[in-house]
Order: sequence, then C-alpha cells, then structure tokens
Amino acid sequence: MAAILVLHGPNLNLLGRREPDVYGHLTLAEVDAAIGQHAATRGVRVECRQSNHEGVLVDMIQSAGQQGFDAIILNPGALTHYSYALRDAIAGTPVPVIEVHLSNIHAREPFRHRSVTAATCRGQIAGFGLDSYLLGLDAALGCLGRR
Ligand code: DQA
Repeated sequence: MAAILVLHGPNLNLLGRREPDVYGHLTLAEVDAAIGQHAATRGVRVECRQSNHEGVLVDMIQSAGQQGFDAIILNPGALTHYSYALRDAIAGTPVPVIEVHLSNIHAREPFRHRSVTAATCRGQIAGFGLDSYLLGLDAALGCLGRR
C-alpha cells in the first residue's frame, strides 16, 4: 500500500478561523479527515502533519523517504514565497512532492504570485480549497504510476 505524507506549513493550524473568506470554514482537523477519507477510497495510507517552523518542515521532508513515504503533498503556506531552505529540501529528496494551495495564489497579492518551491515540485495545484489536497493526492498517485 502506498503511503503519502501531507505537510501543512505555517498558520494552517488556524484554518476555519483564519481569513475564512480566503481559506474557507473547514478546520485543519476537518481537512485532514477529508483527505483521510479520500485516501481510503484510493487504497493508500496517508499521514497529515502541520508545523509553523521552517526547519521542522525541512526535517520532515528529509526523513520522509526513510519513514516509508512514497510521496509528499506540501502546502508550504507563506514559506512558498521565500523559503530557499524548503526548496533545497524538496530538490534533495527522491520522494515526489506535489505543491498545493487552498487559494489561487496567482490571483492574490503580487508577493504571492511567485513560488520559490514549485519548480522543485512535480507540479502545483492552487485555488480549489480542500479539493487542492484531494487533487494533489490523485496527482501523487499518478506520479507513482498507481492511477
Ligand atoms: C496558502 C497561500 C499562501 O500565500 C499563504 O501564505 C498561506 C496559505 C494557501 O493554501 O492558499 O498560508 O499556501
């Protein structure tokens, strides 16, 4: 059974309360539950983690392969726009990484239009709310040749 790691970056622990007009009303626990249900329909194991800390996310990306994960779905939050450390961690892992965003970052403030991490990911899905994660999971399975 394939195993997929879902990583949520800074401030995503506040989902549901944080700018709901932008990010929706679902809490992070509800998002994770929906991802888990989708994963069950696809017959894959999923583990969801969140950190507000860049270095912790780097550690989790570095160790994902050794921990048996076959792919990573990553929402780097604001780190998307400036974290070369995350970019290098993604570039340095053989595990395929799919970048996802709840909001359409390309339709928002100019500083959000640039992702420094996307080029080291297999691809980016943005703007579909919860569905960005579910589409990301299907894209990850596609990368693994399991769709
Ligand atoms: C986000 C978009 C980022 O610009 C923002 O800093 C976030 C969330 C999204 O999922 O839409 O924290 O990654």
